[in-house]
Amino acid sequence: MSDTLTKLTYQSFQQGKNYFGLAHKLISTRLMNLISPTENKTTPIPTGVLLIIQQRLNNLLEVDWQDSQRGIYSESLLFDNSWEDFFKYYPMVWFDLPQIWERAKNKKHQDFSSGVNTEGYPSYYVQNFHHQTDGYLSDLSANMYDLQVEILFGGSADAMRRRILAPLKENLNFFADVPPSLLRVLDVACGTGRTLKAIRSTLPHASLYGTDLSPAYLRKANELLSQIPGEVPQLLQANSEELPYLDNYFHAVTSVFLFHELPGVARQNIINECFRVVKPGGTFIICDSIQVSDSPELEPMMHNFYETFHEPYYRHYMTDDLVERLQKAGFENIETQVHFMSKYLIAHKPA
Ligand SMILES: C[S@@+](CC[C@H](N)C(=O)[O-])C[C@H]1O[C@@H](n2cnc3c(N)ncnc32)[C@H](O)[C@@H]1O
Repeated sequence: MSDTLTKLTYQSFQQGKNYFGLAHKLISTRLMNLISPTENKTTPIPTGVLLIIQQRLNNLLEVDWQDSQRGIYSESLLFDNSWEDFFKYYPMVWFDLPQIWERAKNKKHQDFSSGVNTEGYPSYYVQNFHHQTDGYLSDLSANMYDLQVEILFGGSADAMRRRILAPLKENLNFFADVPPSLLRVLDVACGTGRTLKAIRSTLPHASLYGTDLSPAYLRKANELLSQIPGEVPQLLQANSEELPYLDNYFHAVTSVFLFHELPGVARQNIINECFRVVKPGGTFIICDSIQVSDSPELEPMMHNFYETFHEPYYRHYMTDDLVERLQKAGFENIETQVHFMSKYLIAHKPA
């Protein structure tokens, strides 16, 4: 296929996912409101803001395409969609909806199925984030998570995750004398492994590591990552506030969509831990939600986000100074980027 045709196919594929996400959100909200009406606490988004969002999405897709063309990762990653999971779990998303709706309506935020073990986790974690059934603590939740995130972001979640790859690859040049197979990269709070899968495409020979608090999400990650070529990443259940690794062990550390789900103290503890385990000259890359400081025009969207979903720490996150936190831990030369609904902080540990 010619490049132009592949690009057009990619753009149409993404636009299709975007419309699908919008249609799902619209139909499911209308339907549930008919069955069990609830007060709408969201602020209507002005047309001008919607146009900004569409433009940001177009820009994200363009950068995603360009990065694949300059070899940061394989073009096939642009079309990486688990159709098997889609057909298996999309009906379950609908089946689960009435429970989610009632949980949201009755403000039940610590509602777990019997049999789900909630012992031994930090109290901030034992929550139904996004009103999810079983929070992060069951296989059902792990199986539906990627699909739910895809619906939320209109199919662009992986494109946002992939924005860590160019700075990751570029910053690893600092260790140009290290053979690629001896490079070590850790993804903190790796969830179902989508980011590690993308990193594998950029760094086919490096040793990859992932940690998460959820055994169920790690099982799902292991299932995904053991199917792709290359050494299977080493996954460990751990609280990122106490990483089970030696000081100065990794050439780079990444973290995607974690910080908005943490209270301030845990955010700082995790940043400090990432500083401890990354080597001098190494990089720590955060991808997370946009904040008011970088996207003031999208502040109404941010308010709607925590009003609609159960995101107990998001309001504090919106104005939290992550650069200051990174500097406090010892990081220097912190660059910030924004792509669509995410921001990126690329922080360096002094050599
Ligand atoms: C929004 S999900 C993001 C997952 C994944 N990085 C992604 O891109 O989809 C947040 C993840 O952080 C994990 N998590 C939350 N607090 C944690 C902590 N203190 N230590 C380790 N993992 C944590 C959750 O289990 C969940 O998998």
